[in-house]
Amino acid sequence: QRHLLGIEPLHPSEITTLLDLADDYVRLNRGKRHGDALAGRSQINMFFENSTRTQASFELAGQRLGADVMNMAMQASSIKKGETLIDTALTLNAMHPDLLVVRHPHSGAVDLLAQKVNCAVLNAGDGRHEHPTQALLDALTIRRAKGRLHRLNIAICGDIAHSRVARSNILLLGKMENRVRLVGPPTLLPAGIADFGVEVHDDMREGLRDVDVVMMLRLQKERMDGGFIPSEREYYHRYGLDAEKLSHAKPDAIVMHPGPMNRGVEIDGEIADDINRSVIQEQVEMGVAVRMAAMDLLVRNRTATTTTEGIMA
Ligand code: CP
Repeated sequence: QRHLLGIEPLHPSEITTLLDLADDYVRLNRGKRHGDALAGRSQINMFFENSTRTQASFELAGQRLGADVMNMAMQASSIKKGETLIDTALTLNAMHPDLLVVRHPHSGAVDLLAQKVNCAVLNAGDGRHEHPTQALLDALTIRRAKGRLHRLNIAICGDIAHSRVARSNILLLGKMENRVRLVGPPTLLPAGIADFGVEVHDDMREGLRDVDVVMMLRLQKERMDGGFIPSEREYYHRYGLDAEKLSHAKPDAIVMHPGPMNRGVEIDGEIADDINRSVIQEQVEMGVAVRMAAMDLLVRNRTATTTTEGIMA
């Protein structure tokens, strides 16, 4: 691949290759060692939407592999003077970066940008469309906790309709031959979701029965204009993950959440902090390693392509 824009175009073997390399980077990070796969490369992070985990981990990932990393302060950029996304991208492209990491509130904006630049583009989340590195870090977390990434029963619960995390995870977990269930109120399930080959439940206890993995999603209030849920209190009562609802999953089921969490809305704080069930902090750790692997592989692919093109020319 020349870019990482989504999970959709990835072959299962590419996913496995990336996760294997990320596993190596987990060991490197735990040993407090640095790599040099991106030495002499430059990485620009452009976040048009707020982020804690994704932005920090992309920055650390680049630094740990020796890249020159620049975080564009989008609020202080000429976007505020009316410069378009494309003109901004062309301007940065003229500075010859190797990697552009982009988060944008509009679905498809990152793909559009990737068509205009010469470097590798990584989608750090675009609207409701995809968040590929989140799905990859979730996959690595599951594989390390369960010892495999196939034939698992996985429930993705809550606000599916507004979630790029859900979409990328449905695609990835399906490609790796897992059984995916979506659990949530009908108002938070997108139309046509059955086409994705998933089971759909509107009852949490039914949906969680005997699953290996419980993946909770944030209620994305910023993407709602009302009417999706009766009240947060009612939502928590019916769909918030608490000990009683979790008891319907397998006894060794793991609990995941991409963050940021609304404690007491989609998840009970004690479940989120229970180190025997929750792998939420591991997800954050895996985020750095997965982003190191993604950027390393993209730069390797581009170097190989350029070299081949050079020989052909
Ligand atoms: N999971 C996730 O994308 O978190 P941030 O919005 O903090 O990056």
